Amino acid sequence: MKVLLTGAGGQIGHDLISHLTDAGHHVVATDLAPRPATHASHVDWRRLDVTDATAMHATFADVRPDLVFHLAAILSARGEKDPVLAYNVNQTGTWNLLEAARATGVGRILFTSSIAVYGPGLPDPTPDDVALWPTTMYGITKVSGEMLCDYYRRRWGMDIRGVRFPGLISAAEPGGGSSDYALFMYVDGVRRGAYEAFARPDTRIPLMYMPDGVRALLDLSRADRAGLTRCVYNVAAFSPRADEIAASVKRALPDVQITYKSEPVRQGILDSWPRALDDSRARADWGWKAEYDLEAMTADLIPKIRAMGPGPTSVTHAH
Ligand SMILES: NC(=O)c1ccc[n+]([C@@H]2O[C@H](COP(=O)([O-])OP(=O)(O)OC[C@H]3O[C@@H](n4cnc5c(N)ncnc54)[C@H](O)[C@@H]3O)[C@@H](O)[C@H]2O)c1
Repeated sequence: MKVLLTGAGGQIGHDLISHLTDAGHHVVATDLAPRPATHASHVDWRRLDVTDATAMHATFADVRPDLVFHLAAILSARGEKDPVLAYNVNQTGTWNLLEAARATGVGRILFTSSIAVYGPGLPDPTPDDVALWPTTMYGITKVSGEMLCDYYRRRWGMDIRGVRFPGLISAAEPGGGSSDYALFMYVDGVRRGAYEAFARPDTRIPLMYMPDGVRALLDLSRADRAGLTRCVYNVAAFSPRADEIAASVKRALPDVQITYKSEPVRQGILDSWPRALDDSRARADWGWKAEYDLEAMTADLIPKIRAMGPGPTSVTHAH
């Protein structure tokens, strides 16, 4: 199968590409950024700016993908620093992608939404269908992206599916999301032996380990269309407090020092999100079930970060 990814150079793309190439698919990876050093030269890597409608159309017309994973986005914390950029990449980029896919007849599209579509004051755990009043530009563009996907599905009969991801954690550089404090506990824990979190210790949001996140995308991409009762699905794994993550890291790295200095903008975003997601619809429709809990993730992740060797930390990170 010919599979095209947008935003392939990011945290999800990094892990998703290897699964797709291992499964024998012809992968066309696109991003603004050049090919990361970690990706083998046999991956067909192309520059594609999703805000450029003409380039998007030309790439789709040339590649004619059977399946598209639309990953390009500006994430929540970075999006609050530059809401215009977030609007252009997330909103216009998704619109350009849907139009190019409609014009060129793409078989199937996977859209990556987020818990950032939710605003404060919702039931816990939060189901799929509640009023969506996000507080960030990122969340607004994800709500709108979900609605556009649903519209193109109904209006043009296109096969479009999506997941609302919790904060994803993997052995990679964080992409500027508000859940980055969780990953930095591991990354800084291994590389510096200390981390000052930008969230309060009682902060609780839904999180997921990347192998489950990749599996959610792959399982949904393979699911029988007739069994899907909606366009975009909540997927959940676990919802630890920040100090519970710290305790898990400390069990693996006993000398680590984790302290807290809540930073108002990102803390405000975190406090506006649900503490847990109800993913019963995904479980019922396509058999979704997360495999990793917090302890299983810690056990798997720490050796992977160690194996990566020296690299960026929260102190040197650009976001
Ligand atoms: N990582 C998470 O915790 C998380 C959680 C929920 C949803 N998501 C969603 O999953 C998708 C992938 O997330 P990620 O963590 O890999 O993000 P990331 O920030 O790591 O990667 C995004 C990629 O998009 C690229 N990009 C930015 N502007 C672009 C443009 N104009 N044209 C083309 N590419 C552009 C960047 O270069 C980057 O490689 C996003 O849509 C994100 O909203 C991620």
